[in-house]
Amino acid sequence: MNPTRSSEARQVHDPERWRKQFPILASTTYLVTHSLGAMPIGVYDKLRAYADQWATRGVRAWAEGWWDSPITVGNLLAKMMNAPAGSVVMHQNVSVIESLIASCLDFSGPRNRVVYDDQNFPTNMYVWEGCKRLGAEIVCLPSKGRVGVPLDEVLTAIDERTLIVPISHVCFRNSYQHDAKAICARAREVGALVLLDTYQSLGTVPVDVADLGVDMVCGGSVKWLCGGPGAGYLYVRPDLLLKLEPRITGWAAHAAPFAFELGAQRYASGAARLLHGSPAVPALLAATAGYEVVLEVGVEKIRAWSIACTQALREDLLGRGFEVPSPADPAQRGGTLTVRLRAEENGGAFVAALEQRGILVDHRPEAGIRVSPHFYTKMEELELFARSLGELRESGAWRDFARAQKSY
Ligand SMILES: Cc1ncc(COP(=O)(O)O)c(C=O)c1O
Repeated sequence: MNPTRSSEARQVHDPERWRKQFPILASTTYLVTHSLGAMPIGVYDKLRAYADQWATRGVRAWAEGWWDSPITVGNLLAKMMNAPAGSVVMHQNVSVIESLIASCLDFSGPRNRVVYDDQNFPTNMYVWEGCKRLGAEIVCLPSKGRVGVPLDEVLTAIDERTLIVPISHVCFRNSYQHDAKAICARAREVGALVLLDTYQSLGTVPVDVADLGVDMVCGGSVKWLCGGPGAGYLYVRPDLLLKLEPRITGWAAHAAPFAFELGAQRYASGAARLLHGSPAVPALLAATAGYEVVLEVGVEKIRAWSIACTQALREDLLGRGFEVPSPADPAQRGGTLTVRLRAEENGGAFVAALEQRGILVDHRPEAGIRVSPHFYTKMEELELFARSLGELRESGAWRDFARAQKSY
């Protein structure tokens, strides 16, 4: 690893300052944030406060923060994406959010196309494919073995027949980053909507909804936000919000939920109109521990550190003879690097062998081993990973782990 670059990067950011807040870092080399971010120690306090509130305040807790938690928690993420307060609502996950947005749309007219690429997270495809029975036409652009679908192909596919572009900002498989600003500009030009899935970017790549000119943004908190499961977020441009009337709805989306009006939905005037039933309060409150740390470190700083780390790791891996298919240009990738193995090598076995050495990474079909530094990662940990990978290849010791594979 290049010592000059490493010391320059250390001046930008010092991971040591944050490491004590993440218990798992004491016992593992944690390079799997693209899958599950390390738990911040603050989660213990958040969940204890939740339990104490339930224990001592009982039903009064609803009016003392629980009912409003999808909006108040969303406000923290609004800050992170330069969105106005009140424009982000919390849900359980991306699958629910994409279904909810799909339920606002009318596919029966000539503008019925849904445009994305084959690097979308599969759950999103399942949602939009399901809309075919309502008249949607799916245009799924093929990456054809390339690291990503080039921008000009995406822009050309978006035209006056396009209703919505539900696309990933950063691809979960190989970390390819789309030029989201250009995609939003093209969509705006032809009157189409963009729903940007920032699951693999928010928290490690700066996301500024105003600068991007994006209509809607969604994602979850499990990865770069270190927020754990059950805290999906949805931003909607405020002037678009009032035009959305989801069919997937419920009493939490009503203008006066506690009036218990009978009959048809009367949507709330704010972002609450995008809710449905009672919120998953503990998951939302727990997630704020992660958001607070990420906000405190600052995403610009995290990005600078991430680029320094991934550049250094890339050079190290290339020097050891590994193939690194993630884009070489940091502007075109997110926070993860992928390492492609040889055809005769078994990715799952490498992952299991690394886990035995205390190094946590994962493996995805067609992508290879995924490895990701975050603001709590030390350069030495990346070096240890690269060295261990090289040793496993050279010794062939990974073969002993061929039966020990797990999915996560
Ligand atoms: C880009 C992207 N979208 C969505 C998801 C998951 O969706 P959900 O929140 O429905 O579990 C992931 C999880 O890995 C992801 O990487």
